[in-house]
Amino acid sequence: MSRPGGDEIPVPDAIKACCAAAYQHDAVALLLGESYHPGGTRLTRRLAEALALTPRERVLDVASGTGGTALLLARDHAVQVDGVDLGAESVAKGAAAAAAAGLDGRARFHLGDAERLPFEDATFDAVVCECAFCTFPDKATAAAEIARVLRPGGRAGLTDITVTGPLDERLAGVAGWVACIADARSADDYTRILADAGLRTTRVERHDDALTAMIDMIEARLRVVRIVRPAALAGVRVETVLEMTALARTAVEQGTAGYMLMTAQKGETPDQSGSPRPGRRADPR
Ligand SMILES: C[S@@+](CC[C@H](N)C(=O)[O-])C[C@H]1O[C@@H](n2cnc3c(N)ncnc32)[C@H](O)[C@@H]1O
Repeated sequence: MSRPGGDEIPVPDAIKACCAAAYQHDAVALLLGESYHPGGTRLTRRLAEALALTPRERVLDVASGTGGTALLLARDHAVQVDGVDLGAESVAKGAAAAAAAGLDGRARFHLGDAERLPFEDATFDAVVCECAFCTFPDKATAAAEIARVLRPGGRAGLTDITVTGPLDERLAGVAGWVACIADARSADDYTRILADAGLRTTRVERHDDALTAMIDMIEARLRVVRIVRPAALAGVRVETVLEMTALARTAVEQGTAGYMLMTAQKGETPDQSGSPRPGRRADPR
């Protein structure tokens, strides 16, 4: 695939592998800290509140990264969380953090693809996915997978980048994909994708300020580390990253890019849940 004037866009599997590899890099931990999404733990708490999570519910965190969201939910909401991510190192870091926090009985981490979730049908009361749905090349399949693993009446909660118009071509290439912006959609598009999977949107909130705050934080940290040059930054082209953050800031200021929180619900009966694909059993792994 290619885009006019943009980078060559790799095939879907390469996009996913590239994204998973990028988020395992120590530089990401250095620049983003505990949460790899705009709004950080504050927005994760808001998502948990919007989903009305209750103790002992089973929650799936799709694209759990190094486990920040899953551990917060297990600790503060006493839910039983499974995290799934395509990055083996991220999964290992999540498991190690759970053990260190004494939460390994309540938070488990698995290697897996959002477009092929390794869980049985109707396993979870709620599914969350923060700043990752936008990166999935096949969003319809990922949404169908979320619907499949939810029990009837189960809730889904996303926080994600929104894009409502054309982006600068430098944001529309591979680096923009990994930075979660190149294939981000509008809130209406996400609503349609979820609806086609049988998930009825129940809430949409704008949190564009969270994206600006994350850009501010990354730029501030980059300005320090480009002087100090810690080992974690080896191989990172700081000026290129700063160029991307400046472009992203302009997109937010122009109203083209933003961040949102969205919740949706699976119908209690097949009649209430749109036209979901027939459920399938999880692949044995
Ligand atoms: C921006 S990070 C967000 C991580 C986490 N949700 C958080 O908010 O801290 C995106 C994550 O999506 C994961 N990812 C990307 N594509 C994936 C896929 N197809 N299946 C599972 N995880 C995926 C990456 O490995 C990365 O950990």
